[in-house]
Amino acid sequence: MCGIVGYIGEKKAQPILINGLLALEYRGYDSAGIATIEDNKIQVKKDKGRVNNLYNLEGIQDLNGTIGIAHTRWATHGKPSMENAHPHMDNSNTFAVVHNGIIENYHELRDFLMQNGYTFLSETDTEVIPNLIHYHFEHNVLENNDKFLYAVKSAVNQLKGSYAIEVISSLYPDRIVVVRKDSPLVIGKSNGENYIASDIPAILPYTKDFYFLDDNEFAVIYQNKTEFYDASLVKHNKAIKNIDWDANAAGKDGFEDYMLKEIFEQPTAIRETVGSRFHLGEKCTFEDLNLSKEYLQNIHRIYIVACGTAMNAGLVGKPVFEKLCKIPVEVNIASEFRYQDPLIDENTLCIYISQSGETADTIAALKLAKAKNAKTIAISNVIGSSITREADYSIYTHAGPEIAVASTKAYTSQVVLVTMLAIYFAEQLDRCDTNTIEELKENILDLPTKVETLLQNVNEIKRFAKKVYTQKDMFFLGRGNDYSVALEGSLKLKEISYIHSEAYAAGELKHGPIALIENGVTVIGIITNPDLVEKSISNLQEVITRGARTLVITNQSLPNTHFDFVINIPETHPLLSPILSIIPLQLLAYYISKNKGLDVDKPRNLAKSVTVE
Ligand code: M6R
Repeated sequence: MCGIVGYIGEKKAQPILINGLLALEYRGYDSAGIATIEDNKIQVKKDKGRVNNLYNLEGIQDLNGTIGIAHTRWATHGKPSMENAHPHMDNSNTFAVVHNGIIENYHELRDFLMQNGYTFLSETDTEVIPNLIHYHFEHNVLENNDKFLYAVKSAVNQLKGSYAIEVISSLYPDRIVVVRKDSPLVIGKSNGENYIASDIPAILPYTKDFYFLDDNEFAVIYQNKTEFYDASLVKHNKAIKNIDWDANAAGKDGFEDYMLKEIFEQPTAIRETVGSRFHLGEKCTFEDLNLSKEYLQNIHRIYIVACGTAMNAGLVGKPVFEKLCKIPVEVNIASEFRYQDPLIDENTLCIYISQSGETADTIAALKLAKAKNAKTIAISNVIGSSITREADYSIYTHAGPEIAVASTKAYTSQVVLVTMLAIYFAEQLDRCDTNTIEELKENILDLPTKVETLLQNVNEIKRFAKKVYTQKDMFFLGRGNDYSVALEGSLKLKEISYIHSEAYAAGELKHGPIALIENGVTVIGIITNPDLVEKSISNLQEVITRGARTLVITNQSLPNTHFDFVINIPETHPLLSPILSIIPLQLLAYYISKNKGLDVDKPRNLAKSVTVE
């Protein structure tokens, strides 16, 4: 999705803005642009294509302004083109705007502006914003220092939809005005300079001190100070947050791609997520969760709500909660949940999982539960993200920045954290025997080493990837937890290899999908549940009989079978097996994508955080 960067200080803004855009490339985009102010004149450079393209545009090196805004655009309204790229200017070239989000009523606003003599150069929804600002600036009787901010506010009052907006004006070259609603924006504070970004990694090399803008909040950012205003432009103070991410963690660290680096970071990510939350023989602690035993006893239903990989992590959490806490759990897709009428009351607990904490559907689903008086817990990787500010309680995975579009270390850390949350509840509720809990804890503590072992043996997976990368279709089969992993493995494969793949509960195959199995089709089976080994083998036998080529991921000793490839993974508690069985599937997707010569980190059509509906 679109990315925003901004800078104001003493340095030349252009290289800082370009570097920020490069750091945001992972979000997915199709055009890029920057605007700076020099000698009270706004200079804009923009084009379709990559940031490198922008960097090579004629005249870009001559932009010497020390204030600027920049953007990577992921096309929604209008094709990728120079005209549609941001920044957009008003007709008088007084205001330049970059915008993330969607202005839903832009047709109506465009008509209004056209009736007032404005013309448009692009097909975008965004271009109405600088012109509306200009309109209000001209019609505003204020003659003071605040006129710029008031004009932005009046324009924003007319917008429907979601937005994070940066505005500069040739008449006010000492400030950047920003505002957001349902789209993230952070301000990084440094010595004598300030930075703005839609995502922390863009400005992480310069500061660790961030202000997280709230919905409907305005900020006016100067070189040496930032002023915050509420929706009525009443000024207020805002607390700064220190984000302890290592700037190098957002680099590739010698790996060919971010995705590979992040796959290999999983042992550390799991260790950090477990952190000091539990020790053997002691109860698990979640200091940030202030839930009474009485409240926990009265929970009669848990909803886990999320999108994509985060939802797949929720699926793995369901049996853990049900087994340890004896509370029924439903796992829901956020974009569905938000438009249903889920049975929610004050005894329903809603848990939202989101790596970025900015996924529009997940945030909307959270607001729905709050409106119905349910308690909400956010599980996120990003401190201060929108979802964590909306939820009643927030707990964090400590996976470090995840840059590749395909989520890997976030998934395994989410599964670990959801499992620990269930253990914490079970200990408070006393609904599960201590031995089971202690066994689970021991197994969780052993996970990082087991993942390390798995990552030392990637050759077999590489070999299999080489054999199958030209395939058009693949199938993933599993039962119980292995089915949840099949869903995640299949999602990874389609995202980055563009191979059509389907995941099925192995027993469901005979009810339709087996019709698709023919000579040479690749079927991947996951077999980790000791109670279901024979059943799963039978299902795979059925596809072998019909000519399928098979890869099996297992921690069981399987009888002599006719599988083409078998990847053995370490044993663990059955509730935790997804954390190990997903690793070969992440690697498989990665190596298939590499064999096909694709851009692993930035797959086509996808964005890292989906901040629009
Ligand atoms: O940031 P979130 O965890 O809320 O993102 C949810 C999904 O968009 C995300 O997991 C997506 O499915 C990934 N690209 C999967 O690899």
